[in-house]
Amino acid sequence: MSEIGGFLGWLIIIAYVGTILNYILKVVNKKYGKNISSGPTGKPIMSVLMKVFIRQHRYWGFATVLFLLLHFLLQFNQFGISITGVIAAAILILQVCLGMYGAYLHKKRTGAWFWTHRVIAILLILGVAIHLLLPALI
Ligand code: HEM
Repeated sequence: MSEIGGFLGWLIIIAYVGTILNYILKVVNKKYGKNISSGPTGKPIMSVLMKVFIRQHRYWGFATVLFLLLHFLLQFNQFGISITGVIAAAILILQVCLGMYGAYLHKKRTGAWFWTHRVIAILLILGVAIHLLLPALI
């Protein structure tokens, strides 16, 4: 059971990487888009990647929360509460709520929600790193 709980933790990280590929692919496209499109395979590959990670960004975000809930249920049952886990989970839930606000209510890529959404994406990396590393250090 603990293996499944741990595996779900890695699925959260994989889905999270899927969400931030939104930002990374936009930067790559802006900087190297012309070079990439000049080759025969670059353009179709880039177009598939952008469809999967930019257009479907919100579903990668929803997947992180789904895996988070399953990870929490299994780990809590076996090990009880983890403070660093609760902090990382709270940041992730806040991030998804902000994303939903931006996507469904505000509907514009501008304003405080967008900057906060970007900053929290970085905070999440720190939160997850602390959650993974702290038990090994103490
Ligand atoms: C783990 C969860 C998530 C992370 C780490 C994350 C991260 C990011 C980042 C870094 C950006 C900036 C992209 C840029 O600079 O252009 C962004 C944009 C955006 N996010 Fe998220 N996001 C998450 C979940 C969600 C969810 C669940 C939704 C909606 C339901 C959402 C909606 C949006 C929207 C509408 C934008 C701006 C438009 C776009 O670039 O697609 N995000 N997100």
